[in-house]
Amino acid sequence: MFEEWLTPEQIASDIQQEADHIRADYEGRVPLFVVVLNGAFVFAADLLRRLHDLRCEVTFLRVSSYWGMASTGELQFIVPLQQSVKGRDVIIVEDIVDTGMTIHQLKAHMRAEGAATVRVATMLFKPDKLEYNDARPDYVGRQIANEFVIGYGLDLDGFARNLDAIYKIKN
Ligand code: IMP
Repeated sequence: MFEEWLTPEQIASDIQQEADHIRADYEGRVPLFVVVLNGAFVFAADLLRRLHDLRCEVTFLRVSSYWGMASTGELQFIVPLQQSVKGRDVIIVEDIVDTGMTIHQLKAHMRAEGAATVRVATMLFKPDKLEYNDARPDYVGRQIANEFVIGYGLDLDGFARNLDAIYKIKN
């Protein structure tokens, strides 16, 4: 029911271009990449190796897709930040920005923790689904229509993260 949609070569080309934009913007600075687990691990590994010439640090966090009590609006951290972002140029690394809720919340969290700047690099972006304007990503591998995709870190009920291409539902 899924069909291959982006080949490994197309994905590699998207990531190369994105890495080039980041390198140009952060030359001479020392950004801290904050990788959002689980989905972003494949993308982050490729993106960061294409930035081998940029001095930087990398850390990870994991948030729940279940947001709990909506009234609190608080992020549920399954794996909290392991490293201080105070005074740092933070680049959040996401697999895909959909409604933007995750990024909206994470950006607020980074600012509350004292980050100097916060930008977002994502592999895929669904602009038609965006509900939080401040979650519009700064670096995008590819904009896509409102479709559910899997592979390359993106899962369906925990599976398909290890596929080296990206698949979409066959119409
Ligand atoms: P947002 O908070 O609505 O932007 O959702 C972001 C998260 O939803 C991503 O990090 C993914 O885990 C998940 N997600 C959104 N769209 C897809 C998709 O097409 N395939 C797999 N996961 C998705």
